[in-house]
Amino acid sequence: MEIIRSIRAMQETARNIKERGLTIGFVPTMGALHQGHLSLIKRCKEENHVTVVSIFVNPIQFGPSEDYTRYPRDMEGDIEKLSALEVDILFFPEVKDIYPDDYKTYITVEDLSGKMCGAFRPGHFRGVATVVAKLFNIVKPDRAYFGQKDYQQTVVIRKMVEDLNFDVDIVVCPTIRERDGLAMSSRNLYLNEDERRAATLIYQVLKRAEEMVLSGESFDKVRDFMNKTLSAEPLIREIQYASLFHPERLEELSTGNISVYKEDSLILAAAVILGNARLIDNIVVDLTK
Ligand code: PAF
Repeated sequence: MEIIRSIRAMQETARNIKERGLTIGFVPTMGALHQGHLSLIKRCKEENHVTVVSIFVNPIQFGPSEDYTRYPRDMEGDIEKLSALEVDILFFPEVKDIYPDDYKTYITVEDLSGKMCGAFRPGHFRGVATVVAKLFNIVKPDRAYFGQKDYQQTVVIRKMVEDLNFDVDIVVCPTIRERDGLAMSSRNLYLNEDERRAATLIYQVLKRAEEMVLSGESFDKVRDFMNKTLSAEPLIREIQYASLFHPERLEELSTGNISVYKEDSLILAAAVILGNARLIDNIVVDLTK
């Protein structure tokens, strides 16, 4: 595996790959790689000639009181995992090169960035959109791979790609879960044993809520059930949201049930603070079956 740190070298390498008529698949990450990332990489390798993975803990997508400095970093372990998967290129830029002192340009995907997680993490999706746009310009991918666990992120990035005419296909891959259903996340490393056990409740609540939606229960009742069940867990310090959302507009679905709802799918999603970790998860409920 080739490890590239310089932006200029990555751009030149990408240009050479394209000149040879080869496709570039790209998996952007913040490192501390787990099975979720590895599943994106495997898919990327199946669908492209060359696979580039980036590791960059992006400071501008963290709020001032968030976990930027303590975000898990494991370069040695990550390199081992990427080498074992025979990734072609690891792009590992430095913060001072991505954001030099005189850096001025940011991308905001309006409306969508303020919904769901955006209501609790002001500036987060501006940071995500900006870094992903920069990485696309550096790595020049034909396809880029993201996990469904960060559902809102996939919607924001798709919209940015559409609005700014990026010539890249966004591929969204299923959430990878632990045996007990907990969605894999680098932030699960923050959980102690009791919190880890309590965290399984999130997926259980989403699955039960999915059954309720499909059996025609009103959206209000489903939302009440989600909030009541999560708030009964003493280790959950805060429920930021636990609700039903429109799959593209990300608006909360306030009233009705599936018999009056017109779309093909809806999102059940939750964000909670458990111990020192902010955990999110979601299920896309397919209503076409
Ligand atoms: O999902 C992530 O790990 C990050 O938000 C991303 C897409 C790598 C941008 O920093």
